[in-house]
Amino acid sequence: MSIKTKHIISFFTIVILIVACSHDIANFNPLLTSRLNDTVAKTPFDSTLNNALGCDTTKINYVEHIKPIMTKYCTSCHSSTLKLGGYDLSNYAGTLIPAKSGKLYGSVLHAVGFSPMPSTNLFISTCEASLIKRWIDQSYLVDSAGSKDTTVLNQPITPSVNTCSLDTVYFASQILPLMTSSCAMSGCHDAISRREGIQMTDYANIMKIVRAGSPSNSKLYKSLVDSDPENKMPLPPIPYFTTAQVDLVYKWILQGAKNNSCINTSTANCTTTNMSYSKDIQPIFASNCNGCHNATAPSGGINLTTYNGTIAISARLVGSITHAAGYSPMPTSTIQLNTCEINKISAWIQQGKINN
Ligand code: HEC
Ligand code: HEC
Repeated sequence: MSIKTKHIISFFTIVILIVACSHDIANFNPLLTSRLNDTVAKTPFDSTLNNALGCDTTKINYVEHIKPIMTKYCTSCHSSTLKLGGYDLSNYAGTLIPAKSGKLYGSVLHAVGFSPMPSTNLFISTCEASLIKRWIDQSYLVDSAGSKDTTVLNQPITPSVNTCSLDTVYFASQILPLMTSSCAMSGCHDAISRREGIQMTDYANIMKIVRAGSPSNSKLYKSLVDSDPENKMPLPPIPYFTTAQVDLVYKWILQGAKNNSCINTSTANCTTTNMSYSKDIQPIFASNCNGCHNATAPSGGINLTTYNGTIAISARLVGSITHAAGYSPMPTSTIQLNTCEINKISAWIQQGKINN
C-alpha cells in the first residue's frame, strides 16, 4: 500500500470518527436510523407534511438552507481541496451537479443505487432531506431574493428522485406490504404464531415458499390461486387477493423474486384533488393495512375496512403513516407508504374526510 493511500485511509478514519462523535448523532431520525438494519429504502416525509411538523420548507434557497447543510455534513470530504468522488459541495455551482443528476438527494436518503452520504451509518435529518428535495423542486434558488441561476433555468429539472421502473415489481414496496397485511398477522404467519412453520414477515422467510423464476413451483403463488377453499390463502375472514394482487406476486416471482426496492417519491401524475374514500383511500388500506385492521382482527381496536372505522382513527392517521414521533409507525416501522399514497390520505382528511 502506498504512503499516499495510507494517508488517505487514516484521514478517512479521522473524519469518520469526528463526524460520528459529534453531536450530529442527536439529529438521527428514528425513521432514518431504522434503515440501518435493513435494505429497504423508504421515502422521506413529504415536504408539505414536514411543514406541519415544524420544518418550514416553503421557500428554500442555497445560501440560507442548503449551504449550511453541506457545511455541517459534507464539506469535510467534498471541498475544493478534497474533492472526494469528484464533488465539491462547498459552493453553489459544485452542489448543483449532483443536485441535478439526482445523486445529491439519492445519496442523503441512502437510496439503493447511490453511495450513502454522509456515511453508511450517518444520516442527515428528515427535515434537512426535505429542504434539499424542496430546493431541487423549486429549481435551485440561489438566495432569499429568489435569484435563479440562468444556466440552470435552461436545463431540465429533476423534480424528484424516483428510482422505480414501471416494468419491475418491487419486493419492498409492493410484495412485502401485501404479505404483512394479509399473512403476517398474529395467529397466522407472524414470527410468533408461524402457522404450518411459515413466517411471512421478511424476505428470507418468504423465500422459503418461493422458487425464484417459477411461480407454478412456488407454494406462495400456488396457495393464492388454489381451487380448494381449505387451502386457498389467505384464510377467511381475510379477503382473497384481488386478481391484480395475484398478478403482482406472479410477476415478482417470474422476475426472479428479488429482494429489490426503489424510492417512489414521485408526485408526478399523483392526483390529490377531490379524493374519494372508496376509490382512492380504501384501495390503499386494502393493500397495506386491512389484514391487521379489519372487523375480526382490529389491531389496536382499529378497523380500516369501513368508513366509520377509518373516521374513528383519522386524527392519528397522518402521524402514523409519516412515521412521526409520538405515533406508532404504520404499516410497519421499516415500511412506509409511497409519497403519493401519503399525500392522498392527507389530502382526503384535509378535504373533509368525505364518505364518497
Ligand atoms: C467521510 C467523507 C465523506 C463525507 C462526510 C461525505 N462524503 Fe460524499 N462521497 C465520499 C466519497 C469517498 C465518495 C466517492 C465514492 C463513493 O461514491 O462512495 C462520495 C460520493 C458522493 C456522491 C456521489 C454518490 C453516488 O452515488 O455516485 C454524492 C452525491 C455525495 N458524495 C454527496 C455527499 C453529501 C451530500 C454529503 C453530506 C451530506 C457527503 N457526500 C458527505 C465521501 C464523503
Ligand atoms: C402487521 C399489522 C399491521 C399493519 C400491516 C398495519 N397496522 Fe396499524 N396497527 C397495528 C397494531 C398492532 C396497532 C396497535 C398497536 C400500536 O399502536 O402499535 C396499530 C395501530 C395503528 C394506528 C394507531 C397509531 C397511534 O399511534 O395511535 C393507526 C392510525 C394505524 N395502525 C393505521 C394503519 C394504517 C393506515 C396501516 C396501513 C398503511 C396500518 N395501520 C397497517 C398493526 C398493523
